[in-house]
Amino acid sequence: MTLILNKAEVASVLEMKDCMAAVELAFAELSEGTAVLPLRTGITPPDGLSLYMPAYLKKMEALACKVVTVYKNNPLKHNLPTTIGKVLLQDPATGDVICIMNGGYLTAVRTGAASGVATKYLARKEKNQVAGIAGAGVQAKMQLLAVCEARNISKALVYDVSEAAADAFVAEMSKKLSLEIIRVKSAEEILGADIICTATSSPTPLFDGNKVREGTHINGIGSHTPGARELDSAIVKRSKFVGDSREACFKEAGDIMIPLNAGEIPDSHFYAELGAIITGKKPGRVNDREITLFKSNGLAIQDAATALLVYQKAVAAGIGTQVEI
Ligand SMILES: NC(=O)c1ccc[n+]([C@@H]2O[C@H](COP(=O)([O-])OP(=O)(O)OC[C@H]3O[C@@H](n4cnc5c(N)ncnc54)[C@H](O)[C@@H]3O)[C@@H](O)[C@H]2O)c1
Repeated sequence: MTLILNKAEVASVLEMKDCMAAVELAFAELSEGTAVLPLRTGITPPDGLSLYMPAYLKKMEALACKVVTVYKNNPLKHNLPTTIGKVLLQDPATGDVICIMNGGYLTAVRTGAASGVATKYLARKEKNQVAGIAGAGVQAKMQLLAVCEARNISKALVYDVSEAAADAFVAEMSKKLSLEIIRVKSAEEILGADIICTATSSPTPLFDGNKVREGTHINGIGSHTPGARELDSAIVKRSKFVGDSREACFKEAGDIMIPLNAGEIPDSHFYAELGAIITGKKPGRVNDREITLFKSNGLAIQDAATALLVYQKAVAAGIGTQVEI
């Protein structure tokens, strides 16, 4: 039998705190060499892009593949979202697909979770910190949720080119987190924050990196293609640069590839993978003045770990629909 879980069912069992714990273990497995993580494979049918993201985590016993499609004409032509994702979870003992689940909400939570774990290891530790969020879309909300899980946050600032999106963010997230959230009028205004998340669809830098304060931690999660970047060369140069995966950063992330290709930084500027810091192979933040930067491209190990968590919780709660395929 195969368990089918829709978006509401996934959302009903998936908590940020649990997801952060699962994603932290997945990054540790990647660092310890017990994860199998091929780079995502893409196919381009005439109307869009179809991506396949497989991963296997040996210790966690998580085997999964996410299928994500990006079809720009979907909303107008077919009344469907641009991005659609589903995760196939397998039993590593038999190979059988034991669960097919909606991947949209899961992706946002696991992306937030990676930033949450990076924040836990890299941000300054004092209480009453301010979070600054660039972008007010699907991912941005989960970024704030994760940062609030990792640190004591007393206020948040949000900036989006769409005032309506930022207002909706303030209304939803201030209620959900019982937190003061202020919409600001420019990306540079969020630089007053201690922890910054960039989660926009912008292909060009959001702010002047020379204006970022010492001691800031940044999670950069948007624009993960070689020609696009949310962060300029100045902030990359000034930061201790940590990536989710060295390979993904050097093949997919304009934020580091553009300054590398321009000769502005050497390869060695890539300090460490997040897993190396989690497992203690390399120290994270070493003082309160350092600027730390976590670049997230999004890895299939995050999906596999999260999908297994969702499946186990759904089975325990007796939710979803079992079908014979
Ligand atoms: N790293 C990962 O694992 C991962 C996972 C999923 C999505 N993403 C990326 O995250 C980004 C956001 O995705 P989403 O699903 O939240 O999209 P979304 O469309 O829901 O939100 C993006 C928001 O960015 C805003 N924006 C665009 N340009 C801006 C600018 N210059 N300044 C401020 N705001 C701006 C838009 O108005 C929009 O509200 C995309 O680049 C996406 O590819 C990364």
